Amino acid sequence: MLLYSARYIQNQLKISGIKHYNADYEKIWYNLMTNKYYIKTFGCQMNEYDSEKIGGVLSKKNQLTETSAPEDADLIILNTCSIREKAEVKVFSDLGRFRELKEKKPSLRIAVGGCVASQEGENIIKRAPYVDLVFGPQSLHRVSELLNKREISGKPQIDITFPEIEKFDHIPIINKNRASASVSIMEGCSKYCSFCVVPFTRGEEISRHLEGILNEIVRLTFNGVSEITLLGQNVNAYRGKMDNGEIADFSLLLEYVAEIKEIKRIRFTTSHPNEMTDNLIKCFGSIDKLAKTIHLPIQSGSDRVLSAMKRNYTTLEYKSIIRKIRRVCPEISLTSDFIIGFPNETDNEFESTIKIMKDLEFDYSFSFLYSPRPGTPASYIEDSIPNEVKQQRLEELQNINVSQGKAYTQSMQGTSQRVLFDHYSKKNKDVLLGKTDNNRIVEANADSGLLNKFVNVKVAKTDTKNLQIGSLIS
Ligand code: SAH
Ligand code: F3S
Repeated sequence: MLLYSARYIQNQLKISGIKHYNADYEKIWYNLMTNKYYIKTFGCQMNEYDSEKIGGVLSKKNQLTETSAPEDADLIILNTCSIREKAEVKVFSDLGRFRELKEKKPSLRIAVGGCVASQEGENIIKRAPYVDLVFGPQSLHRVSELLNKREISGKPQIDITFPEIEKFDHIPIINKNRASASVSIMEGCSKYCSFCVVPFTRGEEISRHLEGILNEIVRLTFNGVSEITLLGQNVNAYRGKMDNGEIADFSLLLEYVAEIKEIKRIRFTTSHPNEMTDNLIKCFGSIDKLAKTIHLPIQSGSDRVLSAMKRNYTTLEYKSIIRKIRRVCPEISLTSDFIIGFPNETDNEFESTIKIMKDLEFDYSFSFLYSPRPGTPASYIEDSIPNEVKQQRLEELQNINVSQGKAYTQSMQGTSQRVLFDHYSKKNKDVLLGKTDNNRIVEANADSGLLNKFVNVKVAKTDTKNLQIGSLIS
């Protein structure tokens, strides 16, 4: 068994703001530092990224190791999402299950992080008093400090503030061998769409320093990363400070990332139509490393609904952006988000959404039933549309979406595609899997020697999901 030095423990005390050493604390930290954490992530890629960072903080500062079994854990963390109602309901039902584990093992600690934590704050402790920690997406770098404080005080700890210091300066780089990784470049959203809770749970847009991002990417390349996904609620709203004091926009950031030799493909998500500058659009023609795909949420094909949603663009403006992108990159795959059943959406308005989905030939997209979120302006609108109607509309749109996606896949037969093969199939160890720019899965033989390599392949055959390689081009 490892023993931790008094100095180390004193340091931990300092981090936690505890001034006086007490022998009991030694026992507390000894227990904490030999423990395991289990983390469950809900929601978007940002949350996946945050979870990895929470794990990084806990292993660096508290020497905790990860387990995939909640029963073995001494600390359970739910990194939550509140974008739609069901996500929250799932959190509370999971908490109920973990409560039973805690009854059997009272030393178990339970933490709720992410957007539900931000939204509900101390209500979580009121509703589930066995929860020990509540922290928001902007205070995740403090999870270790909060855990230590919980041990000393014996009381639940809550921190859902949006601190001014950059959380990114306080979270460790994760050393893990892999070919593809994500990097968060900005946080939050200042757009305040009338239906959306994100500006309230993640705060207003803040961009990371350009050099901090580039450093993180270069460090990731040391571990074999050759594909990078730049993450943010609105990545193209990026306005990050540079060391020389000037501000870099998203297109400049892309140019810098493309200069990193080891990076062979760049993806980004999500972007906002109102931030699609001409400079950014040009990047699709000038930066070869940029994946030829863009996810650009439209939400609705009706101008009345878009205005009620406070999206601040019209369908004509959206179409004009797409026309410009396709002019510089005709083969680009376009995906989107659609909200169906926004309060008082009429049949005609819904038909406009169907029409725009067909006209713009969207590839596989995401569609959601509108979910009223607490405190958002849209949640106060009286709605006359019955749920069954909304459900039917969603189904209709999703059927069209699937058939358009399939047609897109079929059109790829015989084409040349850039693929990064980065993992073996879970079902069949003889199969190596990779992805094209537009996220189609391509199969190769496990012994092809292609693991973690970018290659151009000719697509021989397509089925509804996967593509089979015909021949390697280069
Ligand atoms: N920044 C992105 C949105 C990120 S949130 C943008 O440009 O719009 C991801 C998606 O969740 C949104 O695009 C929207 O389609 C969906 N969404 C957000 N709030 C929702 C709500 N209250 N009900 C249903 N879907 C919602
Ligand atoms: Fe939400 Fe609109 Fe921002 S959907 S994340 S408020 S752009």
